[in-house]
Amino acid sequence: MAFLSRRSRHLKAVPFLLVGMSFLVLRLLLLKEFQSQLEKQEDPTHDPTDVPTVAAQPSALKPRTPCMANASANSVANFEQLPARIQDFLRYRHCRQFPLLWDAPSKCAGRHDVFLLLAVKSSPENYERREVIRRTWGQERTYRGRRVRRLFLLGTPEPQEAARALQLAELVGLEAREHGDVLQWAFADTFLNLTLKHLHLLDWLAARCPRARFLLSCDDDVFVHTANVLSFLEAQSPEGHLFTGQLMHGSIPIRDSRSKYFVPPQLFPGEAYPVYCSGGGFLLSSHTAQVLRAAAHHTPLFPIDDAYMGMCLQQAHLEPSGHEGIRPFGLQLPGAQHPSFDPCMYRQLLLVHRFAPYQMLLMWKALHSPMLSCDRGHRSS
Ligand SMILES: *[C@@H]1O[C@H](CO)[C@@H](O)[C@H](O)[C@H]1NC(C)=O
Ligand SMILES: *[C@@H]1O[C@H](CO)[C@@H](O)[C@H](O)[C@H]1NC(C)=O
Repeated sequence: MAFLSRRSRHLKAVPFLLVGMSFLVLRLLLLKEFQSQLEKQEDPTHDPTDVPTVAAQPSALKPRTPCMANASANSVANFEQLPARIQDFLRYRHCRQFPLLWDAPSKCAGRHDVFLLLAVKSSPENYERREVIRRTWGQERTYRGRRVRRLFLLGTPEPQEAARALQLAELVGLEAREHGDVLQWAFADTFLNLTLKHLHLLDWLAARCPRARFLLSCDDDVFVHTANVLSFLEAQSPEGHLFTGQLMHGSIPIRDSRSKYFVPPQLFPGEAYPVYCSGGGFLLSSHTAQVLRAAAHHTPLFPIDDAYMGMCLQQAHLEPSGHEGIRPFGLQLPGAQHPSFDPCMYRQLLLVHRFAPYQMLLMWKALHSPMLSCDRGHRSS
């Protein structure tokens, strides 16, 4: 009797067991599919033409548990005397991975590799700047067979933009869907969080765009002479080390707590930062981007983004180089009151800070005008 009833219980269990097993098999299959997709993304030899063209989309990532504040951050000497934003930085310094809110998965798909990827640090509210960059130097086109692609790197609206946060989220969504050129991550778009844009971009590149040959990292208020950038890069090797821009040598930490660049000794006790390139704009090779990504894992987060790149280069035993044509501090003739706006002076340059959106449009048109003539260094038009 006992034997029989146990047997019948077993028999009843069979359908449940079958259902359970088929779920398990399904799960394994799905996992395998997911893994092979991941491998395809990671595999640099994978032909991007196989990738189905997917429009910009809200990232499918599941919400992760948010990174918690480090409660022992206040054990740092004189923590209470530090400005609130520095305290905030110290509390969240260990948080290096935030969910992607808007992705551009097919940015680098296509039969031909991307030669130059323009990665522009922007903020949700800087709509006009993005719009004019799309129309001028950031056009996604091919120059003499070299593909240029564009991305804007965004965080979420700063706390002080809270009142407009919903509108800004809608705007970013519109732009992402219409242009497919937005990467947005779920961290506050503050000055001290800029370093996170570089870190997340390096990870994104490795996953989505490992074959892009060169990268231009810049602010959204610089003017770029895209054709000149390409001419310079054509003579460079994507497999070699390249990190070039306006060199910052022996730059000292600002100890005035009212400055936006303030860095207390608790964050950086040294006399001077390692040599770096001004973050207004710099160029790097695919090789150097990969090396930096690895080096960043061993370099504690630092809130001044361009100095942080210098720290990662130092960690990797690499040095940045200076480029005469990259002028993130603008172009001012000795004795002149205003920065020059003569297109002939910009003809030879690669990148200049800082342009209002309307100036970008005017300069772009002037440089491409058949009327432009710069004989003897003068414009005769
Ligand atoms: C938290 O902050 C303390 C003090 O700065 C530091 O020693 C510790 O490594 C931090 N913990 C994490 C997880 O970053
Ligand atoms: C950086 O972003 C995180 C996530 O939004 C936020 O909690 C933190 O306050 C930000 N840090 C700074 C220094 O702005």
